[in-house]
Amino acid sequence: MEQKILMEQTIKDLRERADNAIKNSATLKELDEVRVKFLGKKGELTGLLRGMNQLSAEERPQVGKLVNEARAEIETLIAEKNSELKAAALQAKLASEKIDVTLPGRRVHNGHLHPLTLTLNRVKEIFVSMGYTVEEGPEVETDYYNFEALNLPKDHPARDMQDSFYITEEILLRTQTSPVQARTMERHEPNTPIRMIAPGRVYRRDDYDASHSPMFTQVEGLVIDKGISFADLKGTLEDFSKKIFGEKTKIRLRPSFFPFTEPSAEVDVSCVMCHGEGCKVCQGTGWLEILGAGMVHPDVLKMSGYDPAQVSGFAFGLGIERIAMLSYGLDDMRLLYDNDVRFLKQF
Ligand code: PHE
Repeated sequence: MEQKILMEQTIKDLRERADNAIKNSATLKELDEVRVKFLGKKGELTGLLRGMNQLSAEERPQVGKLVNEARAEIETLIAEKNSELKAAALQAKLASEKIDVTLPGRRVHNGHLHPLTLTLNRVKEIFVSMGYTVEEGPEVETDYYNFEALNLPKDHPARDMQDSFYITEEILLRTQTSPVQARTMERHEPNTPIRMIAPGRVYRRDDYDASHSPMFTQVEGLVIDKGISFADLKGTLEDFSKKIFGEKTKIRLRPSFFPFTEPSAEVDVSCVMCHGEGCKVCQGTGWLEILGAGMVHPDVLKMSGYDPAQVSGFAFGLGIERIAMLSYGLDDMRLLYDNDVRFLKQF
């Protein structure tokens, strides 16, 4: 009898504690812990059933009934709380994933070619349309091809202007694209015609300022055949200048010196800004220097296996940065290397 009253009290107490624990569960995990604590195999209710053997035969079903009622009630409360918590979790998830369909979309920006590449492509197109091939040479070059095969022996004073990034005594970063002249001649049967350009990067001792860089891009040109004359050189460069800067462009040749051409010339174009009137860009002269050129020196032909008695040729070397600056009206060469997107976006 006493045991029965005690158990009735315990059950009542257990229902209350379970009720509170369920109410206070903030998460599904906490709720499940409550379920295990009260209803689990090792839980409190199961523990209570074990105490039943101390009851009399008629007390047993009465207490058993109370235990079952308690179990049913706790199960119902847990089920209710369970769906409540699930609904709340879903709401929270929906709120956190809410999409504002009125926000403007994110634009996908298309990339495009660098202004130097665009300029180089135009130069290539022009020469390819004149029947030139496009050749390549290594940026890490031997002293022989960069200097000696171009008539610049080891002690030649003209080396000073370019002498710069040596890797060993005999290997350096090429200072000009001219070594591709010798390399291309060597690849050909002696005296067979050549009409080629060779674009690429070159490296030399130079400042880094608005109009200089120790690394820049050149395009070399070489034409060899029977009876090639200075007139062919002039006509070709005039044609090229008109194609790249416009029909009204004029060119001017000034005597110059390169060890690998004879005679040599610096070539100017009429200023693309003022068309010869004189302005800030051309420093009042009306002309802009764009390249060096000349007739291939007989010794250079000989060194690469060509016979100057049978063929002649001309060569030229132009700076792509220069041409890009003039065609886009840039006042600082460094803009081309900074890769500032605000600048690059404009092309
Ligand atoms: N290689 C010369 C330079 O870098 C340019 C040039 C090329 C001159 C071909 C004449 C002929 O300055």
